[in-house]
Amino acid sequence: MKIAVIGTGNIGGTLGAKWQAAGHEVTYGSRQAGGDGAGAPQEGPGGAPLRSIGAAVADADVVVLAIPGQAVTSVVAEHGTALDGKVVVDAANRMGASHTDSQEAIRTCGPRVQYVRAFNIYGWENFADPRPGTTLFFAADPAAREAAEELITAVGLEPAYVGDADATGTVNGLMPVWFALVQQHGGERRVALRLVD
Ligand SMILES: NC(=O)c1ccc[n+]([C@@H]2O[C@H](COP(=O)([O-])OP(=O)(O)OC[C@H]3O[C@@H](n4cnc5c(N)ncnc54)[C@H](OP(=O)(O)O)[C@@H]3O)[C@@H](O)[C@H]2O)c1
Repeated sequence: MKIAVIGTGNIGGTLGAKWQAAGHEVTYGSRQAGGDGAGAPQEGPGGAPLRSIGAAVADADVVVLAIPGQAVTSVVAEHGTALDGKVVVDAANRMGASHTDSQEAIRTCGPRVQYVRAFNIYGWENFADPRPGTTLFFAADPAAREAAEELITAVGLEPAYVGDADATGTVNGLMPVWFALVQQHGGERRVALRLVD
């Protein structure tokens, strides 16, 4: 898959490196990259190309939002129409908001957006170096489910589909569960959930 990872921080850099290692074509999109993307790309995490957000999105099948939740609305407002027809993975959390996801903003990009809510419930350490058998719970439009499962598997996690995009709130609800478990395990951020079925 051609994956545009927007954001080069803990989450973007970690996920991008995993997907690159799994053979996917990763390009980072960043507000730090100047120009219209026509020139030679700069270097992002792991040596993957780093382009302007617009240039990274234009070429991608999958766009992963790994930026602060509060920044998603403006990024989507600027690049929204380019996201229509693509798989958009919402890994961002609007900390302190009643809905931590950005589905509503992302839907404004157009009717063909394929929304995925994933990679938001654990700390990045669980993506960098997951413990065997760790389950990642996710919600997705049915058309995006297969791509989401591939992205999750490539990181080394077991995907567990909890439903279509209406189940986004269910996925969101697992983040406070994870935070509580971290607290109850003395701050151990590599604590995670495993589905037994
Ligand atoms: N940290 C975790 O363990 C974790 C786990 C699950 C989900 N998340 C979520 O993932 C997202 C990213 O978290 P993170 O820990 O990776 O953060 P981070 O390390 O601080 O990285 C944030 C990235 O977003 C970019 N950014 C910030 N404001 C932006 C804006 N207005 N427009 C465009 N890009 C912007 C930053 O770019 P610059 O270099 O230009 O500042 C940076 O590349 C957040 O929504 C967070 O809630 C985090």
